Amino acid sequence: MKWLEGFQKLSSVLFILTFQGANCQLAVFPIGPALVNALAGSNVTLAVSFRGAPDPVLTWFKGNLPVGTWTLNSNSPPDIANGSRDVLRIENNGSLTFKGVPKHFTGNYTVELTKSGLGQALVTFTLNIFESIQNVTLSTQPDFAQEGAERFTLQYTMLQGVVEQEIWYFNGGKLKNSTRYLIKGRSLVILEPTRTDRGSYSVLLMNPFSSVTTHRNVTVLYGPDEPTVEALPAQPFYKLGDSLVFSCQAEGFPKPTVEWVFMGQILSDFHQGVLNLTNVQTSQGGVYTCSVLNGLTEEKREKNVTLNVYERPLGNPVCSVMSVNNANLQYQCMWAGGTPQARLSFPTLSNTSSVAGIFSFVVPPSTNFDKRTIICIGEHPIEQNACNITASSPINFLPAVKTTVDPDGKIAVTIQCVSEASPQAVVSWSRGDEAVINGSMYQISSNTTQLKIRSYNITTFLLTPNFTCTCHNPLGSKKKQVHLEGPSISDSSLFPNKEGTIITLTWEVPPTSIVTGFDIQMKGPDLLSNNGNNAMTTGSSNEYRIIQQKTGSARSADVFLLDPDSTYRFRIIPKARLTDGDPSEVHIIGPGEGLSGSAIAGIAAVIPCSILVLILLIGLIFIIFYLRKKKSHQTRYPVSRTVDKVKNIQPNATPRSILNGGLRSPPDYNRLQKTPPERSEILPTFVPPPTVRVATTV
Ligand SMILES: *[C@@H]1O[C@H](CO)[C@@H](O)[C@H](O)[C@H]1NC(C)=O
Ligand SMILES: *[C@@H]1O[C@H](CO)[C@@H](O)[C@H](O)[C@H]1NC(C)=O
Ligand SMILES: *[C@@H]1O[C@H](CO)[C@@H](O)[C@H](O)[C@H]1NC(C)=O
Ligand SMILES: *[C@@H]1O[C@H](CO)[C@@H](O)[C@H](O)[C@H]1NC(C)=O
Ligand SMILES: *[C@@H]1O[C@H](CO)[C@@H](O)[C@H](O)[C@H]1NC(C)=O
Ligand SMILES: *[C@@H]1O[C@H](CO)[C@@H](O)[C@H](O)[C@H]1NC(C)=O
Ligand SMILES: *[C@@H]1O[C@H](CO)[C@@H](O)[C@H](O)[C@H]1NC(C)=O
Ligand SMILES: *[C@@H]1O[C@H](CO)[C@@H](O)[C@H](O)[C@H]1NC(C)=O
Ligand SMILES: *[C@@H]1O[C@H](CO)[C@@H](O)[C@H](O)[C@H]1NC(C)=O
Ligand SMILES: *[C@@H]1O[C@H](CO)[C@@H](O)[C@H](O)[C@H]1NC(C)=O
Ligand SMILES: *[C@@H]1O[C@H](CO)[C@@H](O)[C@H](O)[C@H]1NC(C)=O
Ligand SMILES: *[C@@H]1O[C@H](CO)[C@@H](O)[C@H](O)[C@H]1NC(C)=O
Repeated sequence: MKWLEGFQKLSSVLFILTFQGANCQLAVFPIGPALVNALAGSNVTLAVSFRGAPDPVLTWFKGNLPVGTWTLNSNSPPDIANGSRDVLRIENNGSLTFKGVPKHFTGNYTVELTKSGLGQALVTFTLNIFESIQNVTLSTQPDFAQEGAERFTLQYTMLQGVVEQEIWYFNGGKLKNSTRYLIKGRSLVILEPTRTDRGSYSVLLMNPFSSVTTHRNVTVLYGPDEPTVEALPAQPFYKLGDSLVFSCQAEGFPKPTVEWVFMGQILSDFHQGVLNLTNVQTSQGGVYTCSVLNGLTEEKREKNVTLNVYERPLGNPVCSVMSVNNANLQYQCMWAGGTPQARLSFPTLSNTSSVAGIFSFVVPPSTNFDKRTIICIGEHPIEQNACNITASSPINFLPAVKTTVDPDGKIAVTIQCVSEASPQAVVSWSRGDEAVINGSMYQISSNTTQLKIRSYNITTFLLTPNFTCTCHNPLGSKKKQVHLEGPSISDSSLFPNKEGTIITLTWEVPPTSIVTGFDIQMKGPDLLSNNGNNAMTTGSSNEYRIIQQKTGSARSADVFLLDPDSTYRFRIIPKARLTDGDPSEVHIIGPGEGLSGSAIAGIAAVIPCSILVLILLIGLIFIIFYLRKKKSHQTRYPVSRTVDKVKNIQPNATPRSILNGGLRSPPDYNRLQKTPPERSEILPTFVPPPTVRVATTV
């Protein structure tokens, strides 16, 4: 710069010398550049030279204002403007000198030369006075940049200095006016700042005499951004007892704080946004809200995440089929419990389904459904399961008849009609052509399967028309007639023990027979048990007499202490309260009957040549019997003890009096009903009593 100035000075001197003496026209030239920069407080000279006329009048202007005038080489001193006298001086050659120039002397200076007759000439200088730049500070408005704000301004201030040029930098890169930046005055405006504007800003301030760079770190507040919520392990649902963590992160400056909220409650057990859920329960299922907050800007955001905790329904699905008004079929499927509830459907019946834990579907009855298995599918996120049900029409059945005696002495006959069917069959009852009506005589059980008929008089049952029970469900019906019969015995047998001292009678009763009890009758010598006590019995040994009475449910009787050498006849009389039925066949036991006369005749007819052998055989048997009789005489005593025991067990005198008084006296059935039927069951305890009363029996 300095050498350039010198060169210009030199060239102008040469120019002046070249045209010296031409004297044709007044002209003025700057010596050196017309643009002069100077530091405040220094000495500066705006040097000029002129030619074309001697001693012209010279005036210096600052802008349009004259600051000094002088007639060159005159004796009077230059006239300098009042305020500038300390600074300005006009040199002998007309140059203007500034001494210790202050800053405000910056301006355009024009020198004008005039000489009468020779016109005028002028030249203009531009003088820039600079101060060195000092103590620059960068401030911001507002304090923090914030994402989303309209603008953010950086502004510099300085203690002193004249800035010729300023350059703004961001992270070392030069900034220019653009859509994002506006550089104006002493400020840099960032329009709509974003998080990317965070960094180091600097401004370089320059003039020809100094340059200063000032930095400022700018942070941009932003966020929280939309939080990202993650579940680990990531699953569409969790089973009861599973463990998982929810994490929640959100970008932002300063770092946002995270809160987890569930059902309006702020949860506490999380660290850095990670919520730890162990052994989850269905009650913990629901919407979890992660809430993130920027502590400085107080901006807040939320994100919801749904936790599904599922639990298997209880047990297995259960299928059933019912009848609706005994007309339509209602298939039902149940699978209760579970979270969520299982989805139930009958795919073969319909494509609708239910999630209420129970699903019913009604169809009109059709043979299509008879014995057809209908499957219900239960779908649950955890498990798929199924059940099935098969509807069927009533099948063949046998009515059952049971007879009891009510406490009031009435015979109660219960007819039961049960037919296997699905849905369960409903039974309708009729008597002849009339429907049976519930009343005092006829009682139909609430489930309709039983009809109870009550009457004192057996003829009521027998004279009445046959009963009909019809079992029906929506798929069909089955009908049966019940023909009640009077007391009767269908089959009976006698089983003796080895010694021939005890027999067991068993019998059967037709299924529809009305029986409330049985008389066991015997013909033959008295039972040994009665020998000692009752002399009368011997007299009736040729007639049937009642030896035991049994309840209607009994199907066997034991008779004790027969004399193996005697012949006994037994029969069973079925009874309906006071009415006797036909006796059973007669069962005979004893030696006399083992080979009756007719039997011997038969044998003789078949094998006539072996009569001798037979006689010998009979003789042998006789001898054997004789010996056995002798032997049993000896063994009788301990047995009679048992009889004694039996006698002690039966303190009841009534049956004995019946035995004594003959056969046909009517038994007291009401009494029978009340006495425990266990009598025959107690008898088989052949436990000898401790007391030995042998003498009485002999
Ligand atoms: C300016 O000139 C004056 C005399 O006119 C002198 O005393 C002074 O030292 C000069 N200043 C500088 C900075 O050269
Ligand atoms: C300039 O100075 C003279 C005397 O020194 C004074 O009379 C005059 O008023 C001043 N002019 C201005 C404009 O100050
Ligand atoms: C000085 O002159 C230049 C050019 O002639 C002009 O651009 C500038 O504005 C002037 N300065 C002042 C302070 O008048
Ligand atoms: C300006 O800066 C200088 C050094 O850089 C320091 O000594 C001075 O105190 C500062 N002045 C002000 C007003 O800050
Ligand atoms: C930037 O533009 C503004 C007006 O739009 C203007 O005032 C300013 O001088 C310009 N700055 C630069 C460095 O171009
Ligand atoms: C700006 O930040 C950088 C590092 O980020 C640091 O080295 C520098 O000192 C900071 N400047 C100011 C002015 O705070
Ligand atoms: C969650 O809690 C369990 C037990 O409390 C612990 O073992 C596990 O490390 C925790 N996990 C996290 C991610 O905090
Ligand atoms: C999150 O869930 C809560 C409660 O269920 C509800 O009030 C809020 O509006 C939900 N927020 C969003 C973003 O869905
Ligand atoms: C019906 O269910 C039983 C068990 O309840 C199963 O054994 C049988 O296989 C099922 N039948 C069909 C046809 O699904
Ligand atoms: C019907 O009811 C009677 C008595 O009320 C009962 O004994 C019988 O078991 C019942 N039958 C069914 C199939 O429920
Ligand atoms: C039983 O009923 C029949 C016919 O109804 C009647 O003749 C008979 O006298 C009745 N017997 C008794 C003991 O009531
Ligand atoms: C009753 O049923 C029996 C056999 O079940 C039958 O022989 C009799 O004729 C029927 N009586 C009436 C009146 O239908």
